[in-house]
Amino acid sequence: MDEVREWSTRHIVINSGVDNHVDKLSKHPHIQEAAQLIKAGEVVAFPTETVYGLGASALSNQAVEKIYKAKGRPSDNPLIVHVASVEQLAGVVDNLSHYAHLCIKYFWPGPLTLVLPKGEKVCTAVTAGLSTVAVRMPEHPVAKALILAAELPIAAPSANSSGRPSPTEAKHVLEDLMGKIPVVIDGGATGVGVESTVLDLTGDQPCILRPGSITKDQLEKVIGEVTIDPALTRSMYSVEADHPVDADIGIQPKSPGMKYKHYAPQGELWLVQHKGKQKHQHISVSDYDNGEAESAFQRLIDTHRSKGKQVGILVTAAEAQVYNSDFTYIYSDDSAEEKQLAALAQHLYSGLRAMDEQKIDIILMKTVTDDGLGLAIMNRLLKASSGRMVTI
Ligand code: TXA
Ligand code: MG
Repeated sequence: MDEVREWSTRHIVINSGVDNHVDKLSKHPHIQEAAQLIKAGEVVAFPTETVYGLGASALSNQAVEKIYKAKGRPSDNPLIVHVASVEQLAGVVDNLSHYAHLCIKYFWPGPLTLVLPKGEKVCTAVTAGLSTVAVRMPEHPVAKALILAAELPIAAPSANSSGRPSPTEAKHVLEDLMGKIPVVIDGGATGVGVESTVLDLTGDQPCILRPGSITKDQLEKVIGEVTIDPALTRSMYSVEADHPVDADIGIQPKSPGMKYKHYAPQGELWLVQHKGKQKHQHISVSDYDNGEAESAFQRLIDTHRSKGKQVGILVTAAEAQVYNSDFTYIYSDDSAEEKQLAALAQHLYSGLRAMDEQKIDIILMKTVTDDGLGLAIMNRLLKASSGRMVTI
């Protein structure tokens, strides 16, 4: 196979303000230029409402192989096909079940990916040879305009190098893929920040394969009972205490023995869990009298620093007032938990990348609830940390 071609990557900024209708945007010269590249079988990075995607024609094996090469992605991990209209699903999916119609009606355009029987038009590289295909209709005006202009369904994984945190800003795409792709369309920071919910509709019962910002509760209100992939719950809850207590720190590290590394920063991410809480819940400053939790968290920071490590923390603005470390990334200045969660989803990957920029060795952050959007956040955190967890 030939090598990845070298490009001098163009960074195109598009201001998709509210008055910029998708039809009008699709005729924008820069969108037209990017669409021509897609039609010619090249790849283009573009914003969606979740994370930036790296797109190519979903109808061409040759084009899709360029995505896998640029990302260094294993070719057995299938991609999501993005459409701009329901009509575009013709030939992409084989048939639309009652559940699929309902999901489309209530959640599209938006961060919900549906796994459905594959149509004959989609090339085999997209689905990695599977008989099913993952599809979604993004809500971001630039994404919709690009798909409209290209007049093709666009296959797109997140636009990061395989294994790195997903990109939520164009500069993240450039960090990973500069020189490997012809164009990145910059539509500013993405809104949701974590990848779409993946819902499998090909089995007996709808099943969440990847949690995202469309939650189980939201789905159940529309289609009734939804299950969660047992593999997902196993990896999230079978955290075993198979490490000895670290006498230096006085806390117990736990490891779920998860084999994959994903969304990972270069430094070591450690999740800090509260011993008195159910499953994964955020430890708020008020959880202990006499600041016991605060001092345990600070003690963790200090222990690593005393070993010569650069320690970074990802915290709320209120927590930033309390703790001392080498680098503090504030993900939210709000005091309401729901808003903090949305802000954490939005800034998580950016925060992890900032840690790398600061050459941080040890990243510490507290676990959050695994209800609602928290499930998606904890799923990404457990992967990014390879399950490294301490209880205080
Ligand atoms: O928000 C998103 O979904 C972003 C933006 C760019 O749309 N895309 C994204 O793509 O996150 P990617 O490739 O990073 O993740 C696709 C996920 C993977 O977990 C993959 O295994 C799963 O979707 N997937 C794709 N096709 C599938 C299929 N036929 N059956 C089951 N899972 C599938
Ligand atoms: Mg990805």
